Amino acid sequence: MALQAATQKMVAEFDYPASDVNKGVKEFLREMDEGLGETGTTMSQIPTYVTAVPNGKEKGLYLAVDLGGTNFRVCSIMLKGDTTFSLVQSKVAIPKELMVAKTSQELFSFLAKQIELFLEKHHNDHFEATVRRRRTASASEGYKDQEYFQLGFTFSFPVQQVGINKGYLIRWTKGFDIKDTVGKDVCSLLQDEINALQLPVKVAALVNDTVGTLMARSYTSPNRTSTLLGAIFGTGTNGAYVEKLDQVKKLSIGESSKDYDQTTGDMIINTEWGSFDNHLSALPNTPYDDALDKESNNPGIQMFEKRISGMFLGEILRRALLVLANNTEAAFCSDVDSSKNDIRSTASIGPNSTLYKQWGLDTSFLSVVVGDTTPTLKIVRQALEKDLDIDAASYEDAVTVKALAYAVGRRAARLSAVAIGAIVLKSHRLETDDVIDVGVDGSLVEYYPNFEEMIREALREIPEIGPMGERKIQIGIAKDGSGVGAALIAWSAAQRYSGSSDESNEAETPSDPTNPASNANVDTVADPNRRPSLGQKIKHSFRRSISGLLGKNDNEASPST
Ligand code: GLC
Repeated sequence: MALQAATQKMVAEFDYPASDVNKGVKEFLREMDEGLGETGTTMSQIPTYVTAVPNGKEKGLYLAVDLGGTNFRVCSIMLKGDTTFSLVQSKVAIPKELMVAKTSQELFSFLAKQIELFLEKHHNDHFEATVRRRRTASASEGYKDQEYFQLGFTFSFPVQQVGINKGYLIRWTKGFDIKDTVGKDVCSLLQDEINALQLPVKVAALVNDTVGTLMARSYTSPNRTSTLLGAIFGTGTNGAYVEKLDQVKKLSIGESSKDYDQTTGDMIINTEWGSFDNHLSALPNTPYDDALDKESNNPGIQMFEKRISGMFLGEILRRALLVLANNTEAAFCSDVDSSKNDIRSTASIGPNSTLYKQWGLDTSFLSVVVGDTTPTLKIVRQALEKDLDIDAASYEDAVTVKALAYAVGRRAARLSAVAIGAIVLKSHRLETDDVIDVGVDGSLVEYYPNFEEMIREALREIPEIGPMGERKIQIGIAKDGSGVGAALIAWSAAQRYSGSSDESNEAETPSDPTNPASNANVDTVADPNRRPSLGQKIKHSFRRSISGLLGKNDNEASPST
């Protein structure tokens, strides 16, 4: 009984009622506006200078790398020009010590090495020939620019972007902390290490994963509307959306030149919403959130992200469970004798359990536990044993763990609705469009049971959206979106470098050395050809959109879309 009461009390601490959701939406809208007006605000609202989204006709073979929070992915992507693509990829976990390396070079040379391994494995013919030519070239014209792979670099951290392949790191997030990278151009750091290995690769575009997700969703989107928002709910959380150019007021007060295409009247903004409400004027705050933040390597920063994303939810739950375990009255996982335990044993927490260690509980644990529908909660108990070295947990212990894992996840989903709801309202598309398309990616939205449904429930509680508005919001997974999105932006950059002006003639781009679709020896091949036939795509000129960043004028850049 004592455990049940203590559990209920704790679960209530994670309540995030409709009134708070609405307060959050108002504050989110305020901070969005503030961030559009000036720099240095809590929500960065970074202009990407990408002023339109793709239309599905883009073609060619591109490389993309993605430095996220947990893994480094290298992929080659064949854009087929008919809204489909095929993708070959390799993925490695980023070694923990590199996340906090002393120098940038340690991290970036590791990344370049992974690109080399990928090329050797999947594009060997081209790789060897080009490296050989390059080594034997006596003059600079000994090899051609076209023999390079154009690479889109998805770098999922806040960056002050100043060009299509140039951007300075503002701050690290998600547990990375390499002091000497802050303020540096991350594309040059990668290019230098690629050059050191003499690889035929040019870092052609720099992309945030949310922008990539938005691009990829637009490329493959199964309806006639353009995508409004690309969002990540994974290790970190963030969103990029299509904003009216005249709302991006800080552009007109000298933050940048006017050297970008303005004809679409739109610009994609990387919100960096992980830092929404760092001052906690509207966010919920439990003692577990507070302790997590104070002991993190960036206290006071990314406060929204610290309540939503995969890097943190396991740690919030761990801290809550630890408080319960230390509450002798509640007797969590500590039976007095076997009669109190439905499996006639006594529960115990191993002395070396990671329950006692910071970051000792992975967020995947929450998904597993919440998904357990067995009558005896045996999956929860198995997970407790495997992940936390808790032996013979009773049914009551398991109920407690499931209830808390649910409460932490549900609050995260409802907070996510604040961001999505605010952006939908800001766009005013509810007033005009039948469908408002949102592309999402990340482990949480993919694997936490009913995450999307819980977001939707909260969206319905926002009066300006309501059940009618919520039904208009179409949320779709943009799997591998960041890779495909990076390829799309690299595509666009490559067109500009080569001066090509026909959108559909790039199937055999000069940089198309081999076809991954014909390569049987691959790590994974994803081909969304299986999608249902896709409708007419929006008619924005994607290529024009970034012309300014590439230093050519609009007319030159304009394709015939
Ligand atoms: C963090 C990063 C952001 C990224 C997000 C999702 O919030 O700061 O740039 O988009 O994680 O990966």
